[in-house]
Amino acid sequence: MSELLRIDDIAVKYGNIQALHGVSMKVDEGAVVSLIGANGAGKSTLLKAIVGLEPLVSGSIQFQDSLIAVAARDTTQHFRFRKNHDILTTDKIAEQGIALVPEGRRVFADMTVEENLDMGAFMVRDDKLTARKKEEMYEFFPILKSRRKQKTRSLSGGEQQMMAIARALMSSPRLLLLDEPGLGLAPLIIQDIFQKIALINQEDNVTVFLVEQNAKIALRASTHGYVMENGRIVLSGPSEMLLEDPKVRAAYLGE
Ligand SMILES: Nc1ncnc2c1ncn2[C@@H]1O[C@H](COP(=O)(O)OP(=O)(O)OP(=O)(O)O)[C@@H](O)[C@H]1O
Ligand SMILES: [Mg+2]
Repeated sequence: MSELLRIDDIAVKYGNIQALHGVSMKVDEGAVVSLIGANGAGKSTLLKAIVGLEPLVSGSIQFQDSLIAVAARDTTQHFRFRKNHDILTTDKIAEQGIALVPEGRRVFADMTVEENLDMGAFMVRDDKLTARKKEEMYEFFPILKSRRKQKTRSLSGGEQQMMAIARALMSSPRLLLLDEPGLGLAPLIIQDIFQKIALINQEDNVTVFLVEQNAKIALRASTHGYVMENGRIVLSGPSEMLLEDPKVRAAYLGE
């Protein structure tokens, strides 16, 4: 399998608080990779760094062999990359094929389901393609079809999460980033969502990188996992192995 995303030794700070300390990881094309970690570990910060919402203090991020983010102080060193690819802003990263479903879903509550999906296709600039994509989404998430003229705020939490995922898929990404898709949802609904995620990966060939506090669900849904503590990757390996790891079991599976 080839590498789709590669993160090399990145650091991110919020003022004086360092949220990520030299994080390195990779996501292979076609895989489902998970990142687990407790509250405040730095999981969302990592996803934001990937899509260019948080600048890097050091390190770099590559997607499909192109540099998409690099620490400002390293830009001279990477000038030749800059010249070829430019250091990409969030829009450009999205255009390259990365879509983020943010933590807490961040749906546009006063817009209808249909309008939200249209927002997800803002950079597609092809009405026919957008219409076709929307039909695909309605077929894949029938509940969204029946709710398409409804304001998003009237949807249940699970429906809103489905909509947030559908919105991200409207741009036909190659890499889907999911920030705690199960957060605040009932176990049966979480199961539904993760079934959909598996189908998106297997049938649409979308590579998935998901972040979860719920380690059991995340590791069961993925082939490879990373464990983050206090802004550092402390453990990684095949998800099956992590599920059996005594440290993971004690710290994250409540065993
Ligand atoms: N905008 C911000 N300004 C200052 N500090 C922040 C900001 N966002 C996050 N942090 C801090 O950075 C650290 C990592 O936060 P982050 O949100 O990435 O964690 P997380 O693993 O996603 O946690 P959770 O599981 O609660 O979502 C925490 O200590 C947090 O308080
Ligand atoms: Mg978070």
